Amino acid sequence: MFSMNNLVQKLYREKTLKKDELVELINCGEDTREKLRALAEKVRFENYGNDIFIRGLIEFTNYCRQNCYYCGIRRDNLNCNRYRLSLDEIMKCCRNGYNLGFRTFVLQGGEDPYFSEDKICKITETIKTNYPDCAVTLSLGEKSKESYKRFFDCGADRYLLRHETANKAHYEKLHPPKQTFENRMKCLEYLKEIGYQVGCGFMVGSPYQTAENLAEDLLFIKKINPQMVGIGPFIHHTDTKFRNFPDGTLDMTLKMLSIVRLMIPKVLLPATTALATIDPNGREKGIKAGANVVMPNLSPTSVRKDYSLYDNKVCTGEESAMCKSCLKRRINSIGCRIVTARGDSKNM
Ligand code: 5AD
Ligand code: FES
Repeated sequence: MFSMNNLVQKLYREKTLKKDELVELINCGEDTREKLRALAEKVRFENYGNDIFIRGLIEFTNYCRQNCYYCGIRRDNLNCNRYRLSLDEIMKCCRNGYNLGFRTFVLQGGEDPYFSEDKICKITETIKTNYPDCAVTLSLGEKSKESYKRFFDCGADRYLLRHETANKAHYEKLHPPKQTFENRMKCLEYLKEIGYQVGCGFMVGSPYQTAENLAEDLLFIKKINPQMVGIGPFIHHTDTKFRNFPDGTLDMTLKMLSIVRLMIPKVLLPATTALATIDPNGREKGIKAGANVVMPNLSPTSVRKDYSLYDNKVCTGEESAMCKSCLKRRINSIGCRIVTARGDSKNM
């Protein structure tokens, strides 16, 4: 017990630990988890006060050429009802979002070849021209360095590409052979080199994940020192080969959020929709564990249920305005407030 306490203090002080020490923390019990949580909440407060940033998520296509074994919109899932939003529909989402106070738009989609480099540039430029005070975040998966560069030159500010797992052997258990660990890593390097504010991240409790893998994820994140880190529980999807694997747990996900907050105090850390899906108060608990970002959906309600990466995703029925007021109420209930600002990372 005493030594666990020391580990928590050491992590707080030195902002990192050795791998075997991290494994120990990952396996810790409730008392230690609560200590991590309380410190992470304090560190979040010291860096960002009680401000919670909101990002408007626009899931603009669920076509995907990739085949991640865990993902419901993978190419081979023939039960997925595919859709694409037009530029007009995307701009309608932005207009709606802007009026609700969103100053970051996250364009997320499967790896859809229909959306060529030119089309992505056009979308990015149109958003930046109409809303020069807003940040554009792209989350489009693996592209060439040249494509990433062009999007950046068209005005994209940030890019989210979860590394999924920092262990090559584990990566290969989650993806088909054509999707290589090396390329994932290369993409993250390109994004950093080009100058994006970068987000990486992983799922907690993904199939075959070990405590050691989680420790590797944490050390990888520490090493690449990103501006954002996306962490959510793995949740099975019925139409994937991982349908029978257990979901990631609330407690382990909260623990990972707290450790990341302690390792990178100024990081932007979302309380994800997946976290809200496995627990009715998941978002609030995520914020209490160190998260400071929420990313409600701005996509048209007609397509929301089709962007189904995992089963039982929450908030697929509500209008954006409803989501915003629901979130505001939830966030206020834990003494925090939503801010209308771009919310750039202080971890530069
Ligand atoms: N459960 C939880 N998260 C998932 N993602 C994809 N499929 C699932 C799932 N079944 C996550 C991946 C991806 C992000 C967009 O969503 O980490 O990078
Ligand atoms: Fe689309 Fe993973 S299934 S990128």
